[in-house]
Amino acid sequence: MSNKKNIDTAFFGQPRGLSTLFFTEMWERFSYYGMRAILLFYMYYAVSAGGLGMSQTTAASVMSIYGSLVYLSSVVGGWLSDRVWGPRRTVFFGGVLIMFGHIVLAFPWGLAALYSSIALIVVGTGLLKPNVSDMVGSLYSENDRRRDAGFSMFVFGINLGSAIAPILVPWASNGFGFHAFGNHYNFHAGFSLAAIGMFIGLVQYYFDGKKYLPEAGMYPNDPIERKDLNKIIQKVVIGVVIVVALLVVMALMGQLNIDNIINLLTILAIAIPVYYFVIMLRSPKVSKVERSRVWAYVPLFIAAAIFWGIEESGSVVLALFAEQRTVLHIGNWHFAAANFQTLNPVFIMILTPFFVWLWENWKKQPSAPTKFAAGLVFAGLSYMWMAIPGWLFGTSDRVSPFWLVGSWFIVEIAEMLISPIGLSVTTKLAPKAFKSQMMSMWFLADAAGQAVNAQIVKYYSSATEVPYFLIVGIVSVIFGIVMLFFAKKIHSLMAGVN
Ligand code: GLN
Ligand code: ALA
Repeated sequence: MSNKKNIDTAFFGQPRGLSTLFFTEMWERFSYYGMRAILLFYMYYAVSAGGLGMSQTTAASVMSIYGSLVYLSSVVGGWLSDRVWGPRRTVFFGGVLIMFGHIVLAFPWGLAALYSSIALIVVGTGLLKPNVSDMVGSLYSENDRRRDAGFSMFVFGINLGSAIAPILVPWASNGFGFHAFGNHYNFHAGFSLAAIGMFIGLVQYYFDGKKYLPEAGMYPNDPIERKDLNKIIQKVVIGVVIVVALLVVMALMGQLNIDNIINLLTILAIAIPVYYFVIMLRSPKVSKVERSRVWAYVPLFIAAAIFWGIEESGSVVLALFAEQRTVLHIGNWHFAAANFQTLNPVFIMILTPFFVWLWENWKKQPSAPTKFAAGLVFAGLSYMWMAIPGWLFGTSDRVSPFWLVGSWFIVEIAEMLISPIGLSVTTKLAPKAFKSQMMSMWFLADAAGQAVNAQIVKYYSSATEVPYFLIVGIVSVIFGIVMLFFAKKIHSLMAGVN
């Protein structure tokens, strides 16, 4: 209640704990997006240039499935926090795994390091990301009016970390501007910087968290009881047996290779959200009104998946375009292909104030499904825009960096129409009995989009860029237009939620 005497306003009017979570997530995203900015190039650059010498198509596909798994694992992180460790410890363990994930890549240990790093960061981010956001919510009472502003500040922290890293991490890989490593890259120096970032975040989280985060976060919401234990162990064992059996069968058939593993993971990333939908729609714990809301969430989920597919391809497809097809200087000002990754978060920071103002002042503003539909159209346009330079000038020369700048600007308008709105609508549409699962669904939309990317990015190259951008872009625009026609219907299924 707002008449409490000692309201904590120590961090720009927000609870002091928000500062702890703000910097934790800022540093975590710094490490993640810094690593992502150089990882693609690390994978496919020749060994003589400091890379691993993988094929470009495999590297692009690995980038996408990696991005997918990082959000797919939030299901595990949510569960462990809910039932075993509580969010505070789960976040800390996650941060430790992430830091080790980057440390592994700081050494020249080749493919083994790459795959261990991916495993560590997938699990670590699954533990950290959903729970750190969840804790932001727990800083406020139900009717604290600072809640939305608190979340906006938190998202700003995400983007601040994401914006700085693609400048600093490639710069470290390049010998801090001294070309200390000759003409080739030392990506390990870049990964070290990512590890240091996560380390700073962890230290800050550990000491500050003790003082400023609510005690309740130390306990699980719904601790495992003795009687549940057997059932859980059974399920885990069955899961492990199925995975091992599948891998053995693949090995026996001589099919155990990276491409097939990626195919399998793609199926998994699409099957899991479908499974959740089925469970929620059939559960007797879900009321009629709630069921209608879950149905409304189906098209929103599909739209979000398509949107994230395009948005997340910025670190894969647009990164390749930056490297291979873009003039990497403006006058005397030179930059690296990896630096373009800063554009996404920078545009978010620029556009956010405008959209906050818009939603506060637009009296008869469109419903969430209409905003999603518009978002899909913008996302599609950001891709169709990228078909223009190849179509006009051919694909053998380099073109102005402004093509990419323009594309990111357009896709970030889409992000403003989908990301914050989706986040808030997800919580509101959640059936009571499935609150935390529904929150995971939001991340699963991103995971599903990137899982599809893992399949389609294989077809991207300079030679195919015009049809690639055009087809994917048109698909998104068509979905957006169709959704526009059904927006009223979806909105009525939402049963009073706005
Ligand atoms: N860019 C977002 C982040 O890093 C992506 C996560 C999401 O909302 N799907 O937080
Ligand atoms: N666009 C990334 C995210 O949504 C940075 O935060």
